[in-house]
Order: sequence, then C-alpha cells, then structure tokens
Amino acid sequence: MVRVTASIKDIETAAGVLRDGGLVALPTETVYGLAANAEDPAAISRIFQVKGRPPSHPLIVHLAGAEQLDDWVQDVPRAARVLAEHFWPGPLTLVLRRGPRVPLEATGGLETVAVRVPDHPVALALLTAFGGGVTAPSANRFGSVSPTSANDVRAELGDAVDFILDGGSCQVGVESTIVDAAAETPTILRPGGVMREGLETVLGHPLALPSTSQVRVPGQHPSHYAPHARVILVEPQEVITEAESASSLGHRVGVFVPAAFADLPVKAHAVVAVPASPAAYAQRLYGFLRELDQQGCDLIIASVPTEQGLGLAIANRLRRAAGPRTTV
Ligand code: TXA
Ligand code: MG
Repeated sequence: MVRVTASIKDIETAAGVLRDGGLVALPTETVYGLAANAEDPAAISRIFQVKGRPPSHPLIVHLAGAEQLDDWVQDVPRAARVLAEHFWPGPLTLVLRRGPRVPLEATGGLETVAVRVPDHPVALALLTAFGGGVTAPSANRFGSVSPTSANDVRAELGDAVDFILDGGSCQVGVESTIVDAAAETPTILRPGGVMREGLETVLGHPLALPSTSQVRVPGQHPSHYAPHARVILVEPQEVITEAESASSLGHRVGVFVPAAFADLPVKAHAVVAVPASPAAYAQRLYGFLRELDQQGCDLIIASVPTEQGLGLAIANRLRRAAGPRTTV
C-alpha cells in the first residue's frame, strides 16, 4: 500500500505553484519527479538549473490520461497507441513526434518528445487539478541516485523546490521504461518499470535493446544513477571474497550480498541482503545505494542480477552506477 500524506489542499497548493511558474516535487510509481508546467519555458529552465543538468537533456512530459496524447504529439503510429492503451497509467514512456504545444526547451531541441501517464494517485490528482502537462525529470542532482521518498527529495534538493508532495515510498523504485515509438518499429531506449517481455507480448514481436556503451540521446550517460561511493561489479559468487579483500585493504566497503549467498557471514562495513524477488529489489535499489552512502562507504561491491523481467532495469542502473564518473 502507498502511504500517501498529501491532502487535497496540498494538491491544490501544488497546482497553484505550477501555474505560478514554480517547481513541485511529484511522487510517481517509479521515482519522485521535479515538476514544472510543460508549457512554461522559464519554469523548465529552472528545472535544469536546480538539477545542474545540461539543457540539451530532454525531459518527460507527464499527462493525466492517454486521451490527452494527441494534444501533445503528432503522427502517432499504431504500435504506440497499442502500448499507451495497454500500459498507461504505468511506468512506460513513449518517445513520439513533438506537437506544437511542446516547447523546444522541454525536448532539448529535439523534434520528438517523451510522454507518459504515471500510475500514482497523487501524481494523477495533481495532473488533473493542474489541467495541463507537467515536465518532470527525476528529482535528484544531475548524475546522482533518483529519490524514492519525499525525504530523499529533501536531502537532494532541499529549499530549491517550492513545494514537496509526499506520496509515500515509490512502489516500482526504478524509472520508467523508455520506448522510441516514433518509428513504425519501436525500440527500447532505457529499460525500466515495464518489462521488455510484457512489451513484446503486447506488440507480438521481439524488441531491440540499446547497447550499454552506446549513448543514443543526451541524458543516457554511463555515469547516471551513481552514489558517492565507487561501485564495482563482480560475479555473484565473488561478491563476498572481493568485499572482504577490499575491506582488508582499508576500504569502507558496502556489499550487496545476492540472495543465494544470504546465509554466509560477511566481514564488511555495511551489508545489504539483496531481496530474492526482482520487484522488491527494484523497489529498494536506490534506497540501498543512499543508505550505503549515508553509512560512509567509499566502495560498493555488487553483482548484476539475471537480465530478465525487472532484472534488466536493475542491471542497467547498477552498470551505470559503476560507469566512468567523468560526464561529458
Ligand atoms: O520514471 C521516470 O521516467 C521518471 C519519473 C519522474 O517519471 N522520470 C525520469 O526522467 O526518469 P529523467 O529526466 O530523469 O529521464 C528521462 C530520460 C532522459 O534522460 C532522456 O534520456 C530520455 O528520457 N528522453 C526524454 N526525451 C527524449 C526524447 N525526445 N528522445 C529520446 N529520449 C528522451
Ligand atoms: Mg534521472
């Protein structure tokens, strides 16, 4: 159950903040977003300032319902309609041809725009009360771990946000799956909360995945989603020995112990027992990374799960967290 503390009055206040060009921290089922009126270029530029994100990185426009799709995009292929109908509200983002209502500030100058309908009662209530679209990147500083609770947003952005809507802990825990649906044959740009297998079942054919090294669009840098501690990925059966040898070298090691090795003793600064269920792991992944930072770890040792179902998104985020830190 989602523990929602935002009241109807809070929703009205937040809608007013958006109308006045302000920024609202918005709970969604995936992660918290930093929301602004999608038709207000000045408010959008504040998002980039607050996040420290380059303005060439495109944002997602959030809508209250699939019936609003044609107000924001044009030339929607049939496959995109099928996906929207099937997965919205939900953690699926569709990249489509930009309609005239979408300012270029929101798309980083691209002629396409990313859109989604979030599956969270507070997000939907705000979008309905506000009446328009809302651009919302994850509510973290550029490159760091996405927030999955209102407290995480406070820790990341503090007073830089005008209003924080508390919608409890995010139930999915990793960002939406992004599908480039502008072409007749859709492709996955970022694995996320909607599983590749589910998309393939609905579409009736296999989907191509981006290679991890290839940067297809701005905003897909390898070093995204990174905690302060350095992340090293090893084989599951090596996690414990690697953690112990790094500890003996003087590192403050946080270790993600895979469920299969949960019974073994580990000598490390902080130990995370990885949940056996991929859904539970995804939901808690960013919380674990934040926790290890808070405990002062300088090194995190983990392994990637099997890349099926939500394991694909978890593996993607861990690889990015372990990626080179120099952003372009
Ligand atoms: O779950 C989510 O998607 C969360 C919640 C708040 O909705 N949002 C989120 O936004 O993760 P953000 O800005 O952190 O990541 C959105 C990514 C961008 O980094 C970019 O890679 C991709 O979406 N994107 C946006 N517009 C695009 C476009 N026109 N073409 C290709 N990729 C695009
Ligand atoms: Mg983000």
